[in-house]
Amino acid sequence: MNAIHVLNGPNLNLLGAREPELYGDATLAAIEARLAAVCDSHGIALHFRQSNHEGDLVTWVQNAGLAGEPVILNAGAYTHTSIALQDAIKGAKTKVIEVHLSNVHAREPFRHHSYISPVAQGVILGFGALSYDLALEALLAGAGPSESRRK
Ligand code: DQA
Repeated sequence: MNAIHVLNGPNLNLLGAREPELYGDATLAAIEARLAAVCDSHGIALHFRQSNHEGDLVTWVQNAGLAGEPVILNAGAYTHTSIALQDAIKGAKTKVIEVHLSNVHAREPFRHHSYISPVAQGVILGFGALSYDLALEALLAGAGPSESRRK
C-alpha cells in the first residue's frame, strides 16, 4: 500500500465550528495532521481531500480505484442520498471504509440508511474524530480483502 485517500463530503470543511455537540471540536485540518503523521511513519502517502460537490467525490473515488489505493470515506449527507457514489465505489473495486463522526443510527431516521455501507469494506461510526484514526488502523492492519464485499 503506497497511498491512502481520505475523502470528506459536504460541510465537513466546517468541522470544529459546525454543531460541535454532535461532531466535536477537532477541525478537519487537525484530523488530517494526525493521520498524516501516522501515514508518514509507515512511509505511506496521504491524499486528504474535502469537497461540497458530489461529482468531486465520485471522481476521487474513481481515481483511487484506478490507482488501486484504498479509501476512507466520510461522504457526509451524500451517504444517505448518493447512488452515484455507490456506483463509483462498485466500479472502483478498491477497499473503501465508511466513517462517520456521529452515530448516525442514534439520530434522525433519514440518517439510518447509507448508500455507502453495502459496498464498503466496513463502517466505523460514532467515535468523533477518532473514527478516522480507527479506520486508518483497520487499513494498516490489512482489513480483509476487497473481494469480501457483499456487492
Ligand atoms: C456525518 C453524518 C451525516 O449524516 C451528516 O450529514 C454529516 C456528517 C458524520 O460524520 O457524522 O455531514 O457523516
